[in-house]
Amino acid sequence: MNRDQKCESAVTELKITTATSSYPIYIGADLLPRIDHYLSQIAATNGIKDLLLISNETVYPLYGELVERKLVQSGKNVARFLMPDGEQYKTWDMAEQILSFALQQRLSRQTVVAALGGGVVGDLAGFVAAVYLRGVPLVQIPTTLLAQVDSSIGGKVAVNHPLGKNMIGAFYHPRLVLADSSTLATLPRRELTAGLAEVIKYGIIGDEQLFNFLEVNTGHMLACDPHYLETVIHRCCEIKAEVVADDERDQGLRAILNFGHTVGHALENVTGYTAYRHGEAVAVGMAAACRLGVLIGSFSNSEAERVINLLAQYQLPTTLPAQARPSITAAMMHDKKAVGNQLWFVIPKRIGEVALANFGEEYSWDLLEQALDSITD
Ligand code: NAD
Ligand code: GLY
Repeated sequence: MNRDQKCESAVTELKITTATSSYPIYIGADLLPRIDHYLSQIAATNGIKDLLLISNETVYPLYGELVERKLVQSGKNVARFLMPDGEQYKTWDMAEQILSFALQQRLSRQTVVAALGGGVVGDLAGFVAAVYLRGVPLVQIPTTLLAQVDSSIGGKVAVNHPLGKNMIGAFYHPRLVLADSSTLATLPRRELTAGLAEVIKYGIIGDEQLFNFLEVNTGHMLACDPHYLETVIHRCCEIKAEVVADDERDQGLRAILNFGHTVGHALENVTGYTAYRHGEAVAVGMAAACRLGVLIGSFSNSEAERVINLLAQYQLPTTLPAQARPSITAAMMHDKKAVGNQLWFVIPKRIGEVALANFGEEYSWDLLEQALDSITD
């Protein structure tokens, strides 16, 4: 990716191939009006007649009516379930409500579940698709930037449990991902920047040129310019596809996708999942990881400053509020990468490359505490 690359709009197709699955990701503007065309590719091979459209009360009025109309016109029977909007509804209880609805509608195995919305709808609908009648085909139609660059691809589906985020779930890949960049036009500014935090993450973990591109094109990104957004969505999906192809089940390399997430998840948790958007908390986590990298000598101070400046340029938070600080260490120990008194932490080596470091054995906990103190307000 060239930092001054010109961005042309066209539908692009990427393939994600893992040991168990292979599916296309289409990226471009105005894909939803042609949903019947894209869906026909999987409907024909699976004898699909019915469609369970899962969306929420915010997204359905914006895009769902069009999607539903197109599908009905193409001869599909559409059953629609709209959930309330919010992370607090990504629950076992909501999954059960949708499953009951599907059973009452007598939806058979010749049904596709279509998830229309952000990561909350995508994760929940994906979980439903994984368990309904032991699994029915899933189509992801992500409508937030975060979902287009991250949650809709890679096959992680889940609901939250009172004891932790995403604790009940499965690996269950979609058959198709339709990332329509036109839907981002209605995204609230805060959701856009939260998604851009994950885009910056991809630059740090795997592509310095992407990072450079984000530095010089901040204005285009914040103006939600569809051509520029499509360019970065495509690159992020490429990076995620490579990582997931290498480590589908999250047993090694895939951990790098969680750069910034150890502190980020802890911050979301101690602030009750309401104060920060997921991407915002990840931005604070990335600032912490950069400071930690400098402390252990893996990352230069000038590169840490570059990352923190870019986050600030995108109007993302980079500091921990003092009142949250005392609870962060304990909350981090509930991370999926915590083992006993040790914690595996993704730290930067340079912009474009990260590594896993072990705190509690390889490095002392004190360094982690120092890094957190250094970004506390
Ligand atoms: P979200 O789904 O809550 O969407 C954010 C807000 O934007 C919601 O209010 C939603 O209704 C609204 N919205 C969605 N599309 C819109 C549009 N086009 N126009 C206007 N409003 C729109 O949040 P998110 O950031 O998309 O996703 C966060 C979720 O994703 C979390 O639950 C997180 O755990 C999950 N996630 C999963 C993975 C994975 O690999 N499965 C990866 C990252 C995040
Ligand atoms: N979002 C982290 C993963 O897909 O592994």
